Amino acid sequence: MTAHLEFDRSDSKVAQRIHMMRSSPVRDLFSAATRDDVISLSGGMPDVRLLPADEVDRAVAAALADVNDRSVALQYGSTDGRPGMRAVVCDIVRDIGIRCKPENVILTSGAQEALDLIGKTFIDPGDIILAEGPTYLGALQAFSAYQPDVHCIECDDDGMRMDLLEAELERIGHDNPRLKFAYVIPNFQNPSGVTMSAERRRRLVELSHEYGFLIVEDDPYGRIRFEGGHQIPLKALDDQVIYLGTISKVFAPGLRVGWIVAPRHVLSKINLVKQGADLCGSSLDQAVVQHYFTDTPWQRTLQRFISVYTERRDAMLAALEEHFPAEARWTHPEGGLFVWVTLPEYVDTGSMLAEALDAGVTYVPGDSFYPGASGGKNCMRINFSYESPENITEAIRRLAEVIEARLELYRVFIEAGAIDPARAPINTH
Ligand SMILES: Cc1ncc(COP(=O)(O)O)c(C=O)c1O
Repeated sequence: MTAHLEFDRSDSKVAQRIHMMRSSPVRDLFSAATRDDVISLSGGMPDVRLLPADEVDRAVAAALADVNDRSVALQYGSTDGRPGMRAVVCDIVRDIGIRCKPENVILTSGAQEALDLIGKTFIDPGDIILAEGPTYLGALQAFSAYQPDVHCIECDDDGMRMDLLEAELERIGHDNPRLKFAYVIPNFQNPSGVTMSAERRRRLVELSHEYGFLIVEDDPYGRIRFEGGHQIPLKALDDQVIYLGTISKVFAPGLRVGWIVAPRHVLSKINLVKQGADLCGSSLDQAVVQHYFTDTPWQRTLQRFISVYTERRDAMLAALEEHFPAEARWTHPEGGLFVWVTLPEYVDTGSMLAEALDAGVTYVPGDSFYPGASGGKNCMRINFSYESPENITEAIRRLAEVIEARLELYRVFIEAGAIDPARAPINTH
């Protein structure tokens, strides 16, 4: 039997859900982004080079210090996760106003697994999920396996617009059994960088009661704040909220440890689903992370992340101001990792990416952050957490040239009356 025939047969056997799933452009861009001549603004990587080596070494050594430690760290663990690490999660979230007990915490392989487990626990095909527009593409990927109908609600500088949400909820109706949850990233949202205002947080919680839906609050970036006041988590406003956290942006994403904080009756269902997924998370990762958060001055290291990222964010905003055309708009995040750029409607950032790569710069096209690429075609996400301020400035300069060339082309067409600027973008490839 040839490999070709084997391929054909499996192709006709795959589940329907596979046809709903798209590869992440961030993952696809990974190889291009590591080319020496390319400055990548496409990833979402924390700069782990900033971690103090001796503190990481200490946490790893402590996890494997003696035969007892080793026999726990190298063994299967409970599905809910290492008890000591679950207690550490309670301490970490108490700082931001969330009160919980270890029994309200389940550890996951990063927040990404939490998203998948939530999808598997709550979504039947055709169920309605509300999300910000744009939203985290990894969540769209995780949920898409369960075939929901994702309704995106546009954001402005204060996060998800509650007037649009209310209008959408009116259409969906009160206590509609198909409406399952609203998925939101209230702090320094991925990809837009905006933060939901306190007033909107309260309103979202009220609406969840009025219309009968759950709230899933995903908060990987809340502690990466450069300026402005702390915003109260939705979870602190309503204990029914399902809260997701992760060590990825405050420590290291190579250690796959995230968590869900939720009422026990929710977690017992998620626990069932997790048993089928992986039996338990990595005992070794959980042990290392627990030691990192209990034995090292991690808050000081976090401050280092924050001051370096602040400098890089400032470099990006200054370069945008200096180099980008007057027609472009962008967000001014007070924390997190990303800036969201909006270009005139007729610019297609998806097809422009090839030109950007030729010029030695990458970004993520905006339509990746909408279900079925239903929006954001003239937008892009750019990241400032990994490159030096000099590289960021140079990358923005290169990108500005690429955009300017596109705009020039359209100006010629528009002046000649050949295209209506409000119409769909022209693909020059
Ligand atoms: C909003 C959001 N949620 C979840 C994740 C996944 O994080 P983790 O590394 O914990 O799986 C990310 C990663 O970038 C993210 O931006």
